[in-house]
Amino acid sequence: MGMKNSGVESRTNDKENACYTRRHLEELVELQTSVLRKQAQELQRVNERIIETMSNVVEFRNLESGDHVRRVKDFTRILAGYVAQRCPEYHLDKEAVNMIAAAAAMHDVGKIAISDTILLKPGRLTEEEFMIMKTHTTKGCEIIEMLGDILQKGEYGRTSYEICRYHHERYDGTGYPEGLKGEEIPIAAQIVSVADVYDALISERCYKSAYTPAEAYHMIMRGECGAFSPRLLACLTDARASFEKRALENRQETTN
Ligand SMILES: [Fe+2]
Ligand SMILES: [Fe+2]
Repeated sequence: MGMKNSGVESRTNDKENACYTRRHLEELVELQTSVLRKQAQELQRVNERIIETMSNVVEFRNLESGDHVRRVKDFTRILAGYVAQRCPEYHLDKEAVNMIAAAAAMHDVGKIAISDTILLKPGRLTEEEFMIMKTHTTKGCEIIEMLGDILQKGEYGRTSYEICRYHHERYDGTGYPEGLKGEEIPIAAQIVSVADVYDALISERCYKSAYTPAEAYHMIMRGECGAFSPRLLACLTDARASFEKRALENRQETTN
């Protein structure tokens, strides 16, 4: 009798133990998942802070105005959103759009390494000076590499690297530093390049006055400023109204 009872008891104990172990394992997995999720969020926060700090350095040295960096980021976010919708072949999800927009702030970070005599020269650059100016693309990549593991290993590192290096490439292969052609140019860099050119056109620079957003749009579409993929130009057409709205917001900000 006693034997029988203890048999039942031990079976019940086994069941309970199994149940306990399963619950325990589930809890462990849940805990680990939440730790991993927290780590990923923390990493993303660190990445965004690094990118923000680096773009602020560009602003502090007066290499680019903070407004330019902010607008390029915004135009990039808008355009990347349309690319995500219209061109599924690039596999851009919401996270990728945000990442490209954040990394866009780094596009000219390499200018930190260019001397003031060249950067702030009011007149036309000599051929030699222009050669040096062009190295802001590769210098930017060196800076990103210096940031080491944190940025380098993640998607943020790769995207920032591509944007710094390739934002002056042209779809027809006549850009720099490598003369990449067509889809050899990473899509993140293609998008930032449109945003950068558009903002340069609508801004007043020491060598030119500002074009209206409508003029800027038509100049890009006609290939008068930069050379872009037909797909990207179609996305720019989709984004035109949002671009103009953003450009106008800025005009109001600067006249206030
Ligand atoms: Fe640049
Ligand atoms: Fe720029």
